[in-house]
This record gives sequence, structure tokens and C-alpha cells, in this order.
Amino acid sequence: MKKIQKICCIGAGYVGGPTMAVIADKCRDIQVTVVDVNQDRINEWNSEDLSQLPVYEPGLDELILRNRNNNLFFSTDIDKAIDEADMIFISVNTPTKTYGIGKGKAADLKYIELCARQIAKVAKSDKIVIEKSTLPVRTASAIKNILQNTNNGVSFQILSNPEFLAEGTAINDLTYPDRVLIGGDIHTEEGKQAIDLLSQIYQSWVPQEKILTTNIWSSELSKLTANAFLAQRISSINAISALCEATEADVTEVSRAIGFDSRIGPKFLNASVGFGGSCFQKDILNLVYISRSYHLDEVADYWEHVILMNDYQKRRFAEKIIKTLYNTVNDKKIALLGWAFKKDTNDTRESAAIYVADYLLNEQALLSVYDPKVTEGQIFTDVNRLGTRTEKENEQRLQVHNEIYDTVKGTHAIAVLTEWDEFIDFDWKRIYESMEKPAFVFDGRNILNASKMKALGFIYHGIGK
Ligand code: UDX
Ligand code: ADP
Repeated sequence: MKKIQKICCIGAGYVGGPTMAVIADKCRDIQVTVVDVNQDRINEWNSEDLSQLPVYEPGLDELILRNRNNNLFFSTDIDKAIDEADMIFISVNTPTKTYGIGKGKAADLKYIELCARQIAKVAKSDKIVIEKSTLPVRTASAIKNILQNTNNGVSFQILSNPEFLAEGTAINDLTYPDRVLIGGDIHTEEGKQAIDLLSQIYQSWVPQEKILTTNIWSSELSKLTANAFLAQRISSINAISALCEATEADVTEVSRAIGFDSRIGPKFLNASVGFGGSCFQKDILNLVYISRSYHLDEVADYWEHVILMNDYQKRRFAEKIIKTLYNTVNDKKIALLGWAFKKDTNDTRESAAIYVADYLLNEQALLSVYDPKVTEGQIFTDVNRLGTRTEKENEQRLQVHNEIYDTVKGTHAIAVLTEWDEFIDFDWKRIYESMEKPAFVFDGRNILNASKMKALGFIYHGIGK
């Protein structure tokens, strides 16, 4: 069996960048080239100043420093990297369609198809092509179709190797994965060989018993299912949080009590302002779309409710702020702490903060935003993209700060939207003193100490309390 010497990864984003950095670090004898159409992004990956890397992940800078230009390369020369590689990972974005059939629901596979066509055009030797991006079920067969009809004598093996890393803990998740899933053509010798070659790469650092192989469609569906189950847990506990707020129950106590049941387990039971991120909503929408296309409407409705509950939670949080501030936030200054969809990442895709901000802006609030990793430009891009009002109006009502005490000065309320550790250690007494009174805190992540906050004078509202 031929040993893999060169890997190419198409797409230098949140998945491609960190994944390839870990592979390069663990397999020093393999040359890994990450390519992207976006020249700026590649320049950022190649930047001397590691704070300029396009993805913020704890531990990533160290890996880049250790491996870049040794056996890890970032480039825009896609054709060359494809031509030289034995193995090609496709790690491009698959956003939800914003047009045509399946608009707002199906995944847009335009970028995947473009990659497949480019590989088909450029490849002169046999390749193993791996889908790494999260994709709807049966995408591999579409890729296969494009690749196998090139008639240039090159043979392609298609594998599905979904990524389970969570942002903010990507390097740890990649280094110590719960499992690695490889889907391929398990009924042919060539298929089995391709699976083995990929498995060998992972075996450089992952115990063999954690590497699972399945047929390609099971692999694709497992990824969607895993994310749907995780998102469903959050929507379930968020549904209970609403009930807790209406009664005397406390959602943290309920989570703890049910989490002790070993069948339920304690993880992923933190009630919040709503889940975000590039995967959960998109993957459930994909699941819903596929189910409907097979006329499984009950199945589709079931999963769709996970998203509806999440939308409700974001809206409910914003409405609670408005209601508590005496039913009007018109021209009241409100500080939003956190814009990223979770801590330890600069990613804002589908972040609850964007929607909470939009609701409050609709009510003519004046917002001041602080996030330790998200740039001002990104924050404006996110609110402007919703198209709810003009860019000028957004600029008039929203301000971004680099420092917490400026952010909160003169505000009527603070809403905690991301669970950044640094928020816990702020000088809350100083913050209280600089705010309008009564000073409200809406803790959308339940990270602050409620009794301490109340003792300082705040009117404190957690989620599900
Ligand atoms: C997720 C999956 O965890 C990962 O396996 C998959 O590869 C990609 O999608 P990610 O979106 O990066 O990862 O982050 P995750 O930690 O799953 O959090 C998703 C959202 O759920 C965040 O907004 C987070 O704040 C929220 N969340 C998570 C909660 O509200 N409560 C919880 O208990 C856990
Ligand atoms: P993910 O979270 O899945 O990694 P990102 O949006 O962070 O998604 O990254 C995907 C990357 O793929 C982007 O940098 C984008 O420029 C790149 N990309 C999209 N299509 C192509 C293509 N046909 N060839 C090369 N790169 C592409």
C-alpha cells in the first residue's frame, strides 16, 4: 500500500486550519498544504505576527509557530497543491442557501462542487478525496459522480471524515478526540485501502479503538445526528429554563439533578441565551430538509422545533430586558458583554448576540458592545447583514468599545451574552457605580455570582432563575 506523503486541504477556515495544523504536528513526515481562494486569509495564516491568524483558538499559535514552513504550508496555489497531493481534504464552507429551491434550509453545495470540478480538472494521478465540511447526506455520491466522469484515467476514492471539533477547544478536541469517524466504500478493496490510509494518519496519535469506520452515508448522517442531538439538549434545557422563571425552580439545580442520572450525563446542560455557531442550526436545517424531501414530515417537524425553541429563547431574553426596564428601552443605553457565539473564539456565526442586539435596536435602544476577541468591523457586518435597518442607523445606535469600563458607563442595563472568563473577574463594584440606577444585569450565561451581584446593588436576572 502506498504511503501518504503529501496532503492538500482546500479551505483554510475554522475547520481546515486547526485540523491541518494538528495533522502536520503529529505526522512530521507528511507535507501538508492548506489552500484557499482568499488571498487575505492565506496572508493572515502566513503572518509573522501570530495575533493576526484568521482563527483564534487556544494553542493554535504554538502549533503554527512549530510547524509552519517545515511541513505545514499555506498557499493560494490550489492547482499545484491538488496536483502534488495523494490525499485531498475538502474543507470549504457550506452555508445555508440564501436563494432558490431550499432557500433558508438546504446547504449551498456550490463551493463543494467547484472543488470537485477543480480536482477533476487538475489531477493527473490517483487521489483520495475526503469530505471534511459538514454536508447533507449523499453529497459524497455527488462528488464521486463529478470525479468519476472525467475520463482522464485517474482513479478517485471518496471518504467522509466529519469533523467533531468544537470551537474554542479545537486543538484539544483534535488531539484527544472522543472518536474519529471514517466513512468509505467498505465493499471494495480500493475503498478499504483508502480507509486504511486515512486511518493510519490518525493512528499516529489516536488509539485505534477510537477510529470507527462505516459506510459513507452513515458517516455523513452521524455528523448531522450528533449535532442535532447536542442542539436538542440545549433547546430542552432552555425550554425548562422558561418554566423555571415562571415558577420557583432554578434551572441550574434542575440541570445538576438530572445530570447525575448516568443515562443523561452532566454535559451540555447549561441553559443560555440560545445556541449559536456555524453548525447546529445549519445541520438541523439540513436534517429537516432531507427528511421533508423523503416525505418524512413528522421527523422534519420534530427537529425543526429544536430551532424554533432556540429562536424563542433569544427573543424571550430580549423581551425580558425590555419588560423589566419598565416596558421601554427607547434611547436607553444597554451594554452587551460578548458577541462571539461562545467563549474562546472570535467566531460570531449565528451568535445569539446578533439577534438580541437586533431586537433591542428595533426597540430603539442604544447599544454599547464589548467582546475581547471580536472586531468592530465584524460586529457591524453581523448586524448590517440582517438588513433590518440601514447601516447608518446601526452606526447611530450601536457603539463598539475596547474596554469594559467605557462600555458600561451610563448604561441602564448590562446583558451578558458570551461566557468569557474575564467577565467574572471584572470590578463589578466599579461597574455598578458608573451605571444609571437602578442598575440591571441580565446574565444570559449564568456566569456571575447572583448573591454577590445583588449585594453590590444590582437587580440581577439569570436564565431560568
Ligand atoms: C459544535 C459541536 O459541539 C461539534 O462537535 C461540531 O463539530 C461543531 O458544532 P461548536 O458549534 O463549535 O461545536 O460549539 P459548541 O461547544 O457545541 O457550542 C454550540 C453552542 O451551544 C454555543 O453557542 C454554546 O454557547 C451553546 N451551548 C453549549 C449552550 O448554550 N449550553 C451548553 O450547555 C453547551
Ligand atoms: P469552516 O468553519 O467550515 O472551516 P470557513 O468559512 O471558516 O468554514 O472556511 C472555509 C474556507 O473555504 C474559506 O476561507 C473560503 O475562502 C474557502 N473556500 C471556499 N470555496 C473554495 C474553493 N473553491 N477553493 C478554495 N477555497 C475555498
